[in-house]
Amino acid sequence: MTPVLSVKDLGIEYLVKDGAKPIVSDITFEVEAGEMVSLVGESGSGKSALVHVVAALPRSVQSRVKGSVDLLGYDMINMPAKQLREMRGTRLGFIGQNPFGLLHPILPLERQFHHVLTAHKKTKSKADSAKLAEATLESVGIRDPRAVLTGYANQLSGGMAQRVVIGMATIMEPEILIADEPTTALDPTVQVQILDLIAALNRERGMTVLIVTHDLGVVANYCDKALVLRRGELVEQGSVSALFTDPKHPYTRELFLSTTERVES
Ligand SMILES: Nc1ncnc2c1ncn2[C@@H]1O[C@H](COP(=O)(O)OP(=O)(O)OP(=O)(O)O)[C@@H](O)[C@H]1O
Ligand SMILES: [Mg+2]
Repeated sequence: MTPVLSVKDLGIEYLVKDGAKPIVSDITFEVEAGEMVSLVGESGSGKSALVHVVAALPRSVQSRVKGSVDLLGYDMINMPAKQLREMRGTRLGFIGQNPFGLLHPILPLERQFHHVLTAHKKTKSKADSAKLAEATLESVGIRDPRAVLTGYANQLSGGMAQRVVIGMATIMEPEILIADEPTTALDPTVQVQILDLIAALNRERGMTVLIVTHDLGVVANYCDKALVLRRGELVEQGSVSALFTDPKHPYTRELFLSTTERVES
């Protein structure tokens, strides 16, 4: 079977004022359809840099990229902007750490859903957009979708806002969702609810998920495979059970075994 995502020999350098700074190098991995895969590693190891290139998000820093990223048959490194806008949202959904960064502060949420839906030609009328947005918000666990839709992002709690963003990112039923630490800003109870929601989308819709996390509990409880990044190098990858029971690289051993001990003690 053709993988949903195939990354080969990916290297990213940031072009900063004192020269080129290597961020990640020689990254090769694949994600199969329907898998939920986590990307773990210490802060600054390049996780966000990597998923931003995979999702072809606009970069805040000048960079040089080598290698290839094939996502659903698209060349994510050299794709024209127009095609990128079409496939992002329809076939690929992205959510980040801060849901408020992805929501417009002074536009009613209903209007934002309408923009997304008409941009991708899913609906034509406001009434159709409202109906679909309501159903979607209900499916991501929002109890009173109508009230949320007529309101603004700044009226939402962090957890509610992240649910709305997940709804917006998945309303076109993308094949893959890439999430960069989607629960870091939330309190622990809400974190579990959001992860359960993402896992349900994975299970029930077969939506492939690539999720960046610091939390090895998330890896153990929700993921099929994990990629371990250290200082820009992919030091190990494999099934979650193999990584927890038989980690090969000393860093993975330290990371995964220390968690197991913590859980057991
Ligand atoms: N604007 C920038 N200019 C120069 N270097 C940067 C810039 N932004 C990030 N970096 C560097 O890129 C490297 C990778 O950062 P990245 O944000 O991808 O790490 P991360 O693994 O996502 O960390 P975290 O877990 O804290 O989110 C780090 O060494 C960081 O210092
Ligand atoms: Mg990051």
